[in-house]
Amino acid sequence: MEKIQMSAAEINHDDIKALLNVLKSGRLALGPKAKEFEEMMAEYIGVKYAIAVSSGTAALHILVRALDIGPGDEVLVPSFTFVSSVNAILYERAEPVFVDIEPETYNLDPEDLEKKITPKTKAIMAVDVFGHPAEWDEILRIADKYNLKVIDDSCEALGAEYKGRKIGQFGNAAAFAFYPNKQITTGEGGIIVTNDENIARLSRSMRNQGRGEMGAWLEHEILGYNYRMDEMSAALGVSQLKKLEVFLQKREKVASMYTGKIKDLEWIRPPIVKPYVRMSWFVYVVTLERGLDRNYFIKELEKRGIPARGYFAPIHTQPYIKKYIDGDIPELPVTEDIARRTLALPFHNNLKEEEVDIVVEALKDIYRHI
Ligand SMILES: Cc1ncc(COP(=O)(O)O)c(C=O)c1O
Repeated sequence: MEKIQMSAAEINHDDIKALLNVLKSGRLALGPKAKEFEEMMAEYIGVKYAIAVSSGTAALHILVRALDIGPGDEVLVPSFTFVSSVNAILYERAEPVFVDIEPETYNLDPEDLEKKITPKTKAIMAVDVFGHPAEWDEILRIADKYNLKVIDDSCEALGAEYKGRKIGQFGNAAAFAFYPNKQITTGEGGIIVTNDENIARLSRSMRNQGRGEMGAWLEHEILGYNYRMDEMSAALGVSQLKKLEVFLQKREKVASMYTGKIKDLEWIRPPIVKPYVRMSWFVYVVTLERGLDRNYFIKELEKRGIPARGYFAPIHTQPYIKKYIDGDIPELPVTEDIARRTLALPFHNNLKEEEVDIVVEALKDIYRHI
């Protein structure tokens, strides 16, 4: 049997054909495919504008700048996230203020969010962690009450829905990412989605060296970057997006297989999905009982040829962060407790039932021998 993979993009014949067509066309950048991908994505999410960029991190960075977040501003953000959510704030010398998480879904805890608002708070960077939508009604109510901007880091949640609405429609704008472990891939890549014309215009300019829509090639209106998506990535995005629903259903099936096999074990908790959301399964993360050594499980799984990760490592405990935070690093009791116990198991579209069985049996065996 082949080695069980932690994650794997599903690349089919149509993806390869789409890529070959771009290569044969000779138009490798600034061509029609990025536009086609953007139009498909805007329609899929149900927003007016989509701006394809070179990564999810680039999308978040552009959004922080497009919302005019900078020195002296505080941005509320979970620590239980991927590092980019926080770095996008740091790139602009604004201050991330870490918010604790809900113990069920590991998303921003709205109660702690409201407590951490100060006169300097300018925005909320919410994250739909692992593909589970954040508690959007509450986040938007708080944002409205205190007049805060909202960015949705939905990099892990393409296809997710909150109370019947697609993730990507919430807040001022949202960012998706397409690294190969994501629901669909463009190799490297990301996209900004928004209904705000001004954010769309600024995003298009910033990704393209600050050029204006109508200006000459060497006319730069604002400080920009090369955050463009190339045509090969965009063509892959187009062909992958056509298959997203199939991919999401495959992922849902793998997640249900895991949940079915571990739900009766009292020392390991499957992911909790709120009844009014559609989860877009990005990873399958279980939570071990308190007192179990998660890193021991990872090592033992590895010995049996099974990859697994402690996911996420909270950002407020990372070595680099002290340098960028004024005062003491806050305590985040739920984040710290949960982050010690979460374990991401191998997960991708085509994980077979035999493989899920091998992983679950290995977990049981490790537990039995503790
Ligand atoms: C929550 C979150 N934000 C941002 C990103 C950044 O995306 P990228 O790796 O495309 O820069 C990721 C990707 O892993 C992510 O999971």
